[in-house]
Amino acid sequence: MVIFKNYVQFILTDMLKKSMESQKEKSLFEQHLFICTRCQYIDSEGRKCGEEVAPAFRKEVKKLVKEKFPHKKVRVNASGCLGQCEQGISAVLYPEAHWELDLRPGDEDRLISLIK
Ligand code: FES
Repeated sequence: MVIFKNYVQFILTDMLKKSMESQKEKSLFEQHLFICTRCQYIDSEGRKCGEEVAPAFRKEVKKLVKEKFPHKKVRVNASGCLGQCEQGISAVLYPEAHWELDLRPGDEDRLISLIK
């Protein structure tokens, strides 16, 4: 009976281990960058940027991440409002929970430099 119990325990432990390894492999991304594509900011001349600026910024960051880190599992997602609307384009990187605010076109490298 003890042998059978140990055998079942071994099998279940092995299955759990394999399942966890599989989940880890499936845990798709090492880092996940969310960029708000709804942000609009006022430029230094008092003009409000167009609605297309933040989505274009995200698209450029995504392209650069793919170019610079072709084998890294990094996802660059568009997000809705991140609650930091008054400060240019907002972004947050996970799992670090690192925020970058007041982003503008030309600041792509600020985000790219966070990718490790
Ligand atoms: S609209 Fe971008 S953070 Fe709110």
